[in-house]
Amino acid sequence: MPFQTRKSKELYERTLGVLIEASSSSSRGPANYGACPIFVERGRGSRIFDVDGNEYIDWMMAFGALPLGHAHPEIVEAIVEGASTGAHFATATSVELEVAEILQKIVPNAERVRFANTGTEAIMAAIRLARGVTGRPKILKFEGHYHGWYDDVLVSSNALPPSALGLRSDPIKVADSSGLNRSALEDTVLVPWNDPAALERTIENHHGQLAAIITEGVMANMGVIPPVEGYLHGLQKLAKANGIVFILDETVTGFRIAPGGCQQYYKLSPDLVTFGKALGCGLPVAALVGRAEIMDGLQWGGVLHYGTHNGSRIGMLAARVNLGILTRDNNASFKRTWRVADRLCSELRELFREKGIAAIVQNVGPMFQIMFTDRDGIRDYREFCQYVDRSAFQKFVLSLFQFGVYASPSAALHSIVTSAHTDEDVDLTLAAAEKAIDIAG
Ligand SMILES: Cc1ncc(COP(=O)(O)O)c(C=O)c1O
Repeated sequence: MPFQTRKSKELYERTLGVLIEASSSSSRGPANYGACPIFVERGRGSRIFDVDGNEYIDWMMAFGALPLGHAHPEIVEAIVEGASTGAHFATATSVELEVAEILQKIVPNAERVRFANTGTEAIMAAIRLARGVTGRPKILKFEGHYHGWYDDVLVSSNALPPSALGLRSDPIKVADSSGLNRSALEDTVLVPWNDPAALERTIENHHGQLAAIITEGVMANMGVIPPVEGYLHGLQKLAKANGIVFILDETVTGFRIAPGGCQQYYKLSPDLVTFGKALGCGLPVAALVGRAEIMDGLQWGGVLHYGTHNGSRIGMLAARVNLGILTRDNNASFKRTWRVADRLCSELRELFREKGIAAIVQNVGPMFQIMFTDRDGIRDYREFCQYVDRSAFQKFVLSLFQFGVYASPSAALHSIVTSAHTDEDVDLTLAAAEKAIDIAG
């Protein structure tokens, strides 16, 4: 059947005047899609099917929320069990305890566990907790890192023209939104990532004032940018020496890079760790875990953390099965996704080279991003803003749709290999990429 989008367009027309930007999150709307997003009807394994009957290999996987792909039968079974015997009680359940115990087992520093629903919520709790236990006001955040849509961290997390960034030694804080609490960003200190000297200097400048340093383990919202050798260890050392809480945001990397996330992969020892996305395998489940002496600050009368839906039974049932499958057979699913991703990335690199296209593919295991640039590598936010051609990426991805390949058209949002992806998906994607390149000329 030839590629067509008539029904998607009709539905999009209907959203006008009802849904803002055709969806419930600005990162899904027409700003990313040029015009009309594709309306997806169902998914199975590595594939999604839209309302016009088009089938796609899905490399976006709900922004990473589906480590097992779509509609995994065991997850479906867990959800059906939850739906038919009580989705949520908002009281203690044994499955909540079981998931917490699994996290203790697979995540190195998870001495205590608290569940939430989204990465943003877990981050909000982590920041409040760090301020509470240290009695200090400020948090240090890195340029180009995204930690959810909470006011205190909504700064310089979108790609901007290089002229808006200011000097590396004194980055300009660019709020990502109107309507923020007027004082929210006063206590947020901004530093370029992957720059040990800048970090050290900034900590000195705010001596005794910093409650927390928050970082992604792999920069995952500006394409995919790995930490330079030793950087995260240096950060950890500085945090410890200065009594600053080290918050590792594993919303993206958790249960993807390794069972214990970046913490395990890079052998780190953060104080607090946040998870979201992949934990619930499609259901909204997030977690804040960490050292007991800090986490215990959440006890009643200390740092407040509430939430009607926290630890919902249905979410916990899905998370329990999900973590079981991911770690089954000696973590076989991680080995598999790394292998499939390495093949896809290296063959894409080869394709761009053969076709003479100035593009690179950066990946850390199953997280990967194509970047249209004439540089050999992109090392931080500033390089991303300066050297990556974002509109070329958008054009490329949108042209892949007609050949049955789906990814986020935003150059900043990476793609993901899941355990549902196969070598056949890689072959088909490479063939589609070749056609998309040929069309673009
Ligand atoms: C690194 C990181 N932290 C936090 C969040 C926020 O998570 P959520 O969208 O579940 O609120 C995201 C979302 O993309 C993220 O990429």
